[in-house]
Amino acid sequence: MRFSTAAFMSGLLTVASAHFQLQYPPPRGAFVEDKEPTFCDGYATAVDNRTLFPTSGGIFSIHSEHPQWTLGGIIATVQNPTNFPAFQANGQFQYVVPFFGTSGEGDFCFPIDLAAHGVSGVKDGANVTLQFIFDGGDGQLYQCADLTLADNATIPSSVSCTNATNAAVTPVSTSVAPTATQTSPTGSGSSTSSAQPTSTSNAASSTLVMGVSGIVGILGAVAALL
Ligand SMILES: *[C@@H]1O[C@H](CO)[C@@H](O)[C@H](O)[C@H]1NC(C)=O
Ligand SMILES: *[C@@H]1O[C@H](CO)[C@@H](O)[C@H](O)[C@H]1NC(C)=O
Ligand SMILES: *[C@@H]1O[C@H](CO)[C@@H](O)[C@H](O)[C@H]1NC(C)=O
Ligand SMILES: *[C@@H]1O[C@H](CO)[C@@H](O)[C@H](O)[C@H]1NC(C)=O
Repeated sequence: MRFSTAAFMSGLLTVASAHFQLQYPPPRGAFVEDKEPTFCDGYATAVDNRTLFPTSGGIFSIHSEHPQWTLGGIIATVQNPTNFPAFQANGQFQYVVPFFGTSGEGDFCFPIDLAAHGVSGVKDGANVTLQFIFDGGDGQLYQCADLTLADNATIPSSVSCTNATNAAVTPVSTSVAPTATQTSPTGSGSSTSSAQPTSTSNAASSTLVMGVSGIVGILGAVAALL
């Protein structure tokens, strides 16, 4: 993959209105572009038509409209998670997709083993919610999928699973946490606690966003050298 610095810069100039779409497992409802910077793309409550999903050996698929991005995924094991703290245990976000960075616009598909992360309550028959957190350099975007787990579930053959690029995937070791301020219709603005015990203020949350943007910038700079 070859990027000129100019191409990367022009990419940065166009990302402000760009987004990502969760394709599989299906999100709570139709994509709402304006709500994607908020908890679960603005869908505050879990749906009843849950996707039957394998406890281990699953996949997830997204469409990226950004040339450089980071992605992570967290899980809630309660029936109706309505805010970010529902995705935490002991003050820590329950990650099932540790944040990574990569590049490319288009469809991407990754394996996901929900049972491999030691999250209590992830088991056959459990109702869980995945929340994907995507950052293309202009702030975090969120989409959720409500699932019922089954050890014997399989991915339907109709699900498309392809990668638009074969760009390297780099773990993001920095501690990253969701930073949306709007988490539920009841508007508990203080429920944005992050994985970092000291990062509960808006100022600290902004720093985390900056951190991800900085990392994406670094990836872009590296790509420009290739
Ligand atoms: C659930 O049903 C709603 C309304 O028909 C639909 O928009 C949504 O895509 C469905 N979600 C899933 C995960 O099937
Ligand atoms: C899972 O959610 C469905 C749909 O809301 C519900 O009917 C079912 O009872 C739930 N199962 C468990 C184990 O809570
Ligand atoms: C999966 O296991 C459940 C419970 O044991 C069973 O009812 C169901 O028929 C199985 N489904 C498949 C596709 O094997
Ligand atoms: C897409 O790329 C990721 C990261 O390299 C890889 O884990 C995944 O298997 C790839 N998906 C497909 C469908 O090749």
